[in-house]
Amino acid sequence: MRRMLAVLALAAIATVLTCPRGWATETSTEQRRMFREGARLWPVYCSQCHNARPGSEFAPYQWDAIMMHMRTQANLPAKDARAVLEYLKGSH
Ligand code: HEC
Repeated sequence: MRRMLAVLALAAIATVLTCPRGWATETSTEQRRMFREGARLWPVYCSQCHNARPGSEFAPYQWDAIMMHMRTQANLPAKDARAVLEYLKGSH
């Protein structure tokens, strides 16, 4: 019985140690990819009507609201909008 509890405890610890880290790495790889994609698209889409505003000009929470509006102005497909948003929020 004791041994079984020890094995279960070890398994729980191993899960806690490995899973969140694996998840975090996956997320940030995807975020880096979107950031690069956004950096490429931002000058293309966002300088058509006015100077492209740099990410540092607004706080990340403000970019959420701005992009909801400008996404329709620029007629951005969803995946491009996500990439541009990731880039703008990440360039501080
Ligand atoms: C079709 C034209 C058009 C495109 C494309 C466009 N915008 Fe705009 N943008 C506007 C207009 C018009 C305003 C000001 C009036 C308003 O808010 O609708 C504005 C205002 C803004 C403002 C507020 C500026 C300030 O200093 O107050 C920001 C920030 C902004 N746009 C960001 C963006 C981003 C980011 C993109 C690219 C995804 C983009 N815009 C693409 C037309 C456009």
